[in-house]
Amino acid sequence: MCGIVGFIGEPIKGKIITGALKKLEYRGYDSWGVAFLSGKKITFFKAVGEINGIPKKIQEIKSGLAIGHTRWATHGKINEVNAHPHVSAGNKLTLVHNGIIENFSELKKELCSHNFCSETDSEVVLHLIEENLSKGMDLLHSVSKSVSVLKGSFSLLVFSSDEPDKLIAVKNESPLLLGISDKGIFAASDQIPLSSFTDKFVFLEDKDIALISKNKFQCFDFDLNKVERKILKVKSDVTSSGKLKYSHFMLKEIMEQPFVLRNALEQEKKIFNEIFLMMKNSSVFFIANGTSFNASLFGKEFFSRISGIFPQVIDASEFPYQVDFLPKNSLIFALSQSGETADVLDSVKKAKKKGFKIVSMVNVFNSSLARASDKVIYLNCGEEIGVASTKAFTSQIALLYLLASSCAGKFDSALTELKKVFLKMQQSIELNKNSIKFLSEKFKSVKDVYFIGRSLNYPLALEAALKLKEISYIHAEAFPAGSLKHGPLALISDGVPVIVVAPKDSVFSDTINNAIEAKSRGAFIVGIGDEENPVFDFFIKIPKVKELLFPLILIPPLQLLAFHTAVFLERNPDKPRNLAKVCTVK
Ligand code: M6R
Repeated sequence: MCGIVGFIGEPIKGKIITGALKKLEYRGYDSWGVAFLSGKKITFFKAVGEINGIPKKIQEIKSGLAIGHTRWATHGKINEVNAHPHVSAGNKLTLVHNGIIENFSELKKELCSHNFCSETDSEVVLHLIEENLSKGMDLLHSVSKSVSVLKGSFSLLVFSSDEPDKLIAVKNESPLLLGISDKGIFAASDQIPLSSFTDKFVFLEDKDIALISKNKFQCFDFDLNKVERKILKVKSDVTSSGKLKYSHFMLKEIMEQPFVLRNALEQEKKIFNEIFLMMKNSSVFFIANGTSFNASLFGKEFFSRISGIFPQVIDASEFPYQVDFLPKNSLIFALSQSGETADVLDSVKKAKKKGFKIVSMVNVFNSSLARASDKVIYLNCGEEIGVASTKAFTSQIALLYLLASSCAGKFDSALTELKKVFLKMQQSIELNKNSIKFLSEKFKSVKDVYFIGRSLNYPLALEAALKLKEISYIHAEAFPAGSLKHGPLALISDGVPVIVVAPKDSVFSDTINNAIEAKSRGAFIVGIGDEENPVFDFFIKIPKVKELLFPLILIPPLQLLAFHTAVFLERNPDKPRNLAKVCTVK
């Protein structure tokens, strides 16, 4: 996790760097820092917490060489000392790091003559470079020599006051790209902070070192052999990058789902056909984490029901332990909003070693996952900033439905169906956007919430529970409705909320029976569906659609429920504690 940003070019104000860093805060927000070359010396500033209250002297400082970091702690407590940038004694060398240095303890022992200030793994890289500089090497050679002994994942930005015309960027298994602007060259963990400065990007590859000056860059491998990296023009985002009229990104991203869905459906039929040809004689395994994992559960259902392909779903963090036992004809179908999730990337790497083909469904253009795949379907849903994934989930479901239908020769008819659904999704949001707050207020004082559903409504329950727990910190769990009696029913006592996902589908009456069983034990039953039932103590009404498309209509009110509950509890849904948007460590 963590976000890093750097710049070399015409002198710019410090607030441009802190502003860019602020846009990376969704990657980590427990502490932050910046370092500038000002005159011949390095000036730096670090603080704990979010990027607020930036001192005026930092905002107004003018510099043509700067780096910044927003942290999601892995090694060492959350405090100013452990915050980046790390700066050498004498303020001559500075560095920011995203990733994990796995062999930092061994390296630290070898550098025992150095004075370490922090508890981080990152500081070891600073001392390694310093050690190499002290042997007379220039900055580029010192960095290259240092990174060649590192194990783990790292994207680094480094500069030295002794070589003020150079910014060095290194990428290995953590994201990093360059943005080429009129004012100079930026480096950042992703495009988001740079999109207001440029649409020209260079996507660095693993084991790349970029030597960057004011108006040019050169890329090398770790042995300093030159490598060619192209500048790509990236089209601007489909959604606005600000919060617009909304209080939070998460709320904006929930509300814009109907619009986003239309955009997601702008797909080339040809790619869908090509993917079908790859899938039809393969054993298909979906791999993903978190919300993308829940979306792949729908993929499994859609494919089995519509296309006659029977995929399995494996959590990407468990995939490495199963890869050796998969059949020879395996095809790995990876889902990820960011395309940078370390568990997914590691799994894909291991799958490729086995010779398996990789198909992915990704939101972020040209992300590491997209580049590692044989075929990619883009979600086209715009930047998703809220840590809790919302609009990416609905786009994933819609596109999995489209792909499964396409594999059955029904691309066009499925597209027509999906295009009609966005209006129903809009109605589902409009019907509930205010009334759901009554329920959220009630949830403010509960300790546990259970979600139940059968068939397709079970993965929906899983996703709704994930949303509620990750942003409100209320314990939330989902069960297949029929499994309550096999254990979880013991958790039910007077007033415990049970949310029953029960659209009027083929499993409706069985689900209602399970709701009655829970109610008989004192549960407060919240029903969500298109038809009210006497068992419900509170009802969330959604419009009617075809059975397989219900998930698209059911999820927005449940996302809103999680959002408002978090707000009532005075928790920031955009930045839940302990989490980060992009999990770039395993
Ligand atoms: O970017 P990805 O889709 O690969 O991210 C996967 C998970 O880290 C992500 O869905 C996470 O669980 C979200 N916080 C869920 O809202």
